[in-house]
Amino acid sequence: MKTVQATASGKIILFGEHAVVYGRPAIAVPVSKVRARAVLQGGDPGSGFRIKAPDLERDYLLAEAQTDDPLSTMIEITLRYLGQSHAPDGVLTVSSTIPLGRGMGSGTAVSTAIVRVLGQWFEKSLSPLEVSNLVFEVEKLYHGTPSGIDNTVVSFEQPVYFSKGEPIRRLGVNESFTVVIGDTGRVASTREVVRDLRERWQLDRERYEGYFDEIGVISRQAKVIIEHGLPGTAALGKLMNENQDVLETLGVSSPTLKQLIGAARTAGASGAKLSGAGWGGNMIALVPSQTDVIARVTTALKRAGATEVIVTEVESVSATKD
Ligand code: MEV
Repeated sequence: MKTVQATASGKIILFGEHAVVYGRPAIAVPVSKVRARAVLQGGDPGSGFRIKAPDLERDYLLAEAQTDDPLSTMIEITLRYLGQSHAPDGVLTVSSTIPLGRGMGSGTAVSTAIVRVLGQWFEKSLSPLEVSNLVFEVEKLYHGTPSGIDNTVVSFEQPVYFSKGEPIRRLGVNESFTVVIGDTGRVASTREVVRDLRERWQLDRERYEGYFDEIGVISRQAKVIIEHGLPGTAALGKLMNENQDVLETLGVSSPTLKQLIGAARTAGASGAKLSGAGWGGNMIALVPSQTDVIARVTTALKRAGATEVIVTEVESVSATKD
């Protein structure tokens, strides 16, 4: 039986979450060691298209899927784009090692892997931009008012400097650096956090636009440092701390996030902040690339209650143009 498979990486936002929804720039990087996987195996004629997601304990036929099911919506949108009037007979198995609902892009990566696997099945090579645009269709349906940064960083699997509505800019990284990710273990709905913030923004636009401006300035400064490099991690770490201060003012942090952020800083991180929507999910710490400091920060995060700690290297890369 014909079998094809595809994967997609997780992601973290280094700078600019939330403000990016309001048009300010943000920086995101892929986390390649955690991935979503989609495997499509051909089936007997007439057997239909079955979707299996063992992690979510789900197993159902595409034809019988609920109308608000994100996986089947992603499949339908992709089939239409590929000019296919119906799905092939077969079984699509979806799995992921990306922590669910923690701001690391698990849903986005699953969607991306599905688009890629269908492209492969029909032998259509889809560019990262085509994949990103298709995934964005589903993000818009299920995440309210997404900025588009998540689908972009996951589809391109390269650091991005992202501003809504502007051409995608891959971000060059002059000197590689280490980021330690600490999981609060608490699931937070991006949709809910974004909606809550929007309600507060509507009540006092001027004040909130001011906070978003502050974050935009931080992202711009971080871009220059990441692209051109400064010795050590102190300057970038300071910007992370400043970004966290504004996120706290915006009301998207949480006591658990603050606890992990404090522990990472005390243990030697150059800076730390929440990453993604907040209220739970993950925090990130910028750590000097020395084994002992990385180990100290990892231990401190676990002692402070992190349910999982992932160490990731943002590799140096040149910004290649589309
Ligand atoms: C979520 O990963 C990042 C947010 O800025 C939402 C978005 O950009 O769509 C909170």
